[in-house]
Amino acid sequence: MTDTIAFIADTHIGADETRFAFQPHRPQWLDAAFAGLAEVVRREGVDLVVHGGDIGHAGTAEETARAMTILGGLGTPVAACLGNHDMFGDGSYERWGECVEEAAARGLLLANRRVRLAEADVFVLNHAWLREGWPAWRWTDGTALGCLHEEQLAWLADGLAASPDRPAVIAVHQPIAPPPERLRPGASEVYPSDPPFAGPLTELIGRHPRVRLVLSGHYHATYRTDHGRWVHCSVASMTEMPFDVRIIRIGRSGMSVATVPAMPAPPDAELNPEKAWCIGQPWDRDFTLTWA
Ligand SMILES: [Fe+2]
Ligand SMILES: [Fe+2]
Repeated sequence: MTDTIAFIADTHIGADETRFAFQPHRPQWLDAAFAGLAEVVRREGVDLVVHGGDIGHAGTAEETARAMTILGGLGTPVAACLGNHDMFGDGSYERWGECVEEAAARGLLLANRRVRLAEADVFVLNHAWLREGWPAWRWTDGTALGCLHEEQLAWLADGLAASPDRPAVIAVHQPIAPPPERLRPGASEVYPSDPPFAGPLTELIGRHPRVRLVLSGHYHATYRTDHGRWVHCSVASMTEMPFDVRIIRIGRSGMSVATVPAMPAPPDAELNPEKAWCIGQPWDRDFTLTWA
């Protein structure tokens, strides 16, 4: 038996045309991208959609309400991380917290959360940022280093220790490993993962052999890095061309990852060839892995 997960990220609901992006995007494409995702979910027999964060853009009440309607209407459970843009603006994190029960009733599972599928467990984490040396939920600008709270790491360690024989997937907004140089020789617009975040999480994963896959968004780039028995898999923004969705099929002894578009390319738009590195190479997009 295999579990099928659709992994998306960086939908930036509510953003205008000026938002950070490597590839063309238009606010008016957003509804078509989510309608396309719903079709992919039906076609691929998806058990769980995982959203890697930056669900919305400015953390407003309007965006939160819109996200609840859109993600709660996919017809399949959605487990969602909160990214930096979801925690931008006064009261944004608290507002998500107030929505947890109503969201769950619609099938939208907000992090921090473990979702138990038939074969695998999926651990979905919210992100935090260091403010004056301490982890905080509020994100204010691009200078704050990402991290996780001690309580999150302890919760994750307990959850991973509970069922050591089941494959585990961890989803969190910031990549645990940066885009490799082979994709972006000489490029400077993407920075390494923040050590206060990647260091403790990598160390924790090292103690739990059941972890096979770490999912992330944030850089709006589709790529893969291998770390021995586990692989890191990032996905580009689902609302930017080419509208990437990762389809992950995972069982007791292996997994496959395929990358498909949520919607076709609009007739009036083309990929930006200078930033085409962000959609990865064939090795990043489609692969199969087995383990003993
Ligand atoms: Fe983003
Ligand atoms: Fe982000």
